[in-house]
Amino acid sequence: MKESLLELSNVTAGYGPTPVLFDISMTVNQGEVVCLLGRNGVGKTTLLRSIIGLNALSQGSIVFDADDISQTPTFKRTRYGIAYIPQGREIIPYLSVLDNLKLGFAASGRKSKKIPEEIFDFFPMLKDHLSRQGGLLSGGQQQQLAIARGLICNPKLILLDEPTEGIQPSIVQEIKDTLQRINQEKGITVLMVEQKIEFARQLAQRFFMMDKGSIVARGQTEELTDSLVNQYLAV
Ligand SMILES: Nc1ncnc2c1ncn2[C@@H]1O[C@H](COP(=O)(O)OP(=O)(O)OP(=O)(O)O)[C@@H](O)[C@H]1O
Ligand SMILES: [Mg+2]
Repeated sequence: MKESLLELSNVTAGYGPTPVLFDISMTVNQGEVVCLLGRNGVGKTTLLRSIIGLNALSQGSIVFDADDISQTPTFKRTRYGIAYIPQGREIIPYLSVLDNLKLGFAASGRKSKKIPEEIFDFFPMLKDHLSRQGGLLSGGQQQQLAIARGLICNPKLILLDEPTEGIQPSIVQEIKDTLQRINQEKGITVLMVEQKIEFARQLAQRFFMMDKGSIVARGQTEELTDSLVNQYLAV
């Protein structure tokens, strides 16, 4: 029996009074990599934002690691073990790579200020660029920095929004390998939004397909048929 880490029940949420998500129920199990798919504007980012607490729920509940976090503020969700790596990465451009990494400590509430060596084991590139301004890194390097910053919070769950958006293929491959290692070696659960279907197929064991704010299909990634892809992803 797989142990559930994150469970959404009948979640309705949006921006102000306007709902964007309708009656979403889904479970992510401990140790899984799960992919959230769907066309532009269907609510994928809003769903991740609701899980980390940036969008309030108007109905439903979210349970994380056996605690109901539906009303818990974002900073506490981070401390409970959820890292959110937003779409567009949100690196602070004028801060150094090191200071961007240290923002992860602020989020986790930990006192330590020394970057754990394992961060550089997963992302060796960062070690060579510690004093560079974050904004001077390439898109792929900024994505790696954003994932590293999330890892510093020592999360149980990583929410990752379109990690490969606008990134050159060689770095996409590198990011895929590193995420796989983070999942397998550290046992960290990953819920990611991804539009590159092959990336999702290679990395995730299960998928949820969204359309117009609802989950319209779900299953093992092997069950992600071309007809589903054509119906819900092709433009
Ligand atoms: N800050 C906001 N205020 C009001 N409405 C918003 C806001 N952000 C997004 N929306 C609306 O919510 C809906 C879902 O947007 P969301 O960003 O969650 O979609 P998405 O699936 O992540 O899209 P994409 O693939 O383009 O990133 C859209 O109709 C969008 O216009
Ligand atoms: Mg989005």
